[in-house]
Amino acid sequence: MSNAQRDVIQGPASNASVSIDLLGQSDQAARPVVFAAAQRLGLGLGQRLQIQVDFEPTSLMKAISFQLRDSISWSATQHGPQWEITVQPRAEAEARDVVDLLTWDHFRLDRQFADVLLAANQNDITEAEHIFKDYWIGLRRHVHLENHVLGPALGGDAEHGPLGDMLGEHDSIVEQVRILEEAFNEKDYGLLAPICAVLSGSLAKHENREENALFPIWQTACNADRGRAQELLLRAKALLAGAEDREICALFP
Ligand SMILES: [Fe+2]
Ligand SMILES: [Fe+2]
Repeated sequence: MSNAQRDVIQGPASNASVSIDLLGQSDQAARPVVFAAAQRLGLGLGQRLQIQVDFEPTSLMKAISFQLRDSISWSATQHGPQWEITVQPRAEAEARDVVDLLTWDHFRLDRQFADVLLAANQNDITEAEHIFKDYWIGLRRHVHLENHVLGPALGGDAEHGPLGDMLGEHDSIVEQVRILEEAFNEKDYGLLAPICAVLSGSLAKHENREENALFPIWQTACNADRGRAQELLLRAKALLAGAEDREICALFP
């Protein structure tokens, strides 16, 4: 294994871009190295990868992107018999549409939630509470966007369809996060880990259902009206960045 490949698996010393030379390696041999490097980017631990290969990389990169739940964005440029692949975290790339943006936000929220639990398990309550506060406003923005902006605009059947399931699950998730907030407020730190464990199961199931049952419907609706899709994307980006926090805090105090 070269030093560059070892850096990729163990992590580079800094957040600088990482360049990996995989010339002369087959698709199969390159796969674990590219996966490990891309996974670190997806976790926000790096900034950008530049990978040199001498095979057409589309199927490799599609498979890796799928395994990482589309948390990365990639492009490839051909130079004669070689290709240079550039990989970035999805957060740094332009989201294609609101579904893309929400899928990324699921990934980001999951990571943040795992960090709350990690800090709580390490008895670093100050850090756990700090990350939790960020997580809680991020979750409320996400729920508000899905409930009050995208649901009414893109459909999914609020009575008997996946939109109805989503609305019900959001009520239950928000209630569970409030219990977690209460545990922090009342300094019941022993409860943090068990509440987080239950909540993380609910969140994983919910996100999976949304991504598989509701998001395809929303994506079809977006594709049917590109102008409206662009408007929704701009509003969703601003909302997730905090532009509608006053309304959100009034709706979810
Ligand atoms: Fe949701
Ligand atoms: Fe969602």
